Amino acid sequence: MIDVKLRPSFGRRKARKMRAQSQQAYDKILPLVRLAPEHVPFAANASEVWLEIGFGGGEHFIEQLRCNPTVSMIGCEPFMNGVAKFLIQLKPENYDRVRVWHEDVRHLLHVIPASYFSYVFILFPDPWPKKRHHPRRLITKEFMTQLWPTLKEGAFLHVASDDQPYVEQIQDVLYGFPGLILCEGPPSADPQTWSPRPEGWPATRYEQKAIKQGKKCAYMCFQKRGRGSSE
Ligand SMILES: C[S@@+](CC[C@H](N)C(=O)[O-])C[C@H]1O[C@@H](n2cnc3c(N)ncnc32)[C@H](O)[C@@H]1O
Repeated sequence: MIDVKLRPSFGRRKARKMRAQSQQAYDKILPLVRLAPEHVPFAANASEVWLEIGFGGGEHFIEQLRCNPTVSMIGCEPFMNGVAKFLIQLKPENYDRVRVWHEDVRHLLHVIPASYFSYVFILFPDPWPKKRHHPRRLITKEFMTQLWPTLKEGAFLHVASDDQPYVEQIQDVLYGFPGLILCEGPPSADPQTWSPRPEGWPATRYEQKAIKQGKKCAYMCFQKRGRGSSE
């Protein structure tokens, strides 16, 4: 069920007219991998299901698929041009283990079974820097409360941002969130304390743009406390 009161946390659904190749991928491939709520869970036999929220052009998504051939992944992205870009790169042999939720992730979470995801990635969520837009930021206590039951015990959550005030908000929400352990991440929202991207985190387009502009990025890894977790 769609909650119409939600304030969109994304900017736009479509940027410009798509090129023929993108339009073709969008029209032909998306129906093969598009996730419908009635088809959740989509991969009953999967060893693990991972979730990427706001995958943009899919650079990180594609790289994780390449490096983790037994994992199934759901990617959420309302932005058409981003979805098309991802689909162009997606190999047909991976169609079975990929599903795209071409909507707001918050409309998906309530149909996800409990303890479903082993990994969740939220990389460079829209920062909404203007004060009046802060309510549009995705990472809030309410959102985490919604995401929480879908995480397996011992599941990992990766979050990254280059926006200092948003990093502060993310740390307020996630550092000290009951049951969530900080495995790796800066001690504060001061960019002086931020370290380079950890090994094994594929780069994203937004991140590369930020670095080119001379910005630093904060990378945070959390784990849901459980039998296998490190604390
Ligand atoms: C700043 S971009 C970063 C994209 C990509 N992760 C990267 O680092 O290049 C944030 C993306 O999150 C998507 N997004 C924002 N809110 C979302 C939501 N509620 N559900 C799914 N995707 C969302 C936007 O459409 C946008 O493509």
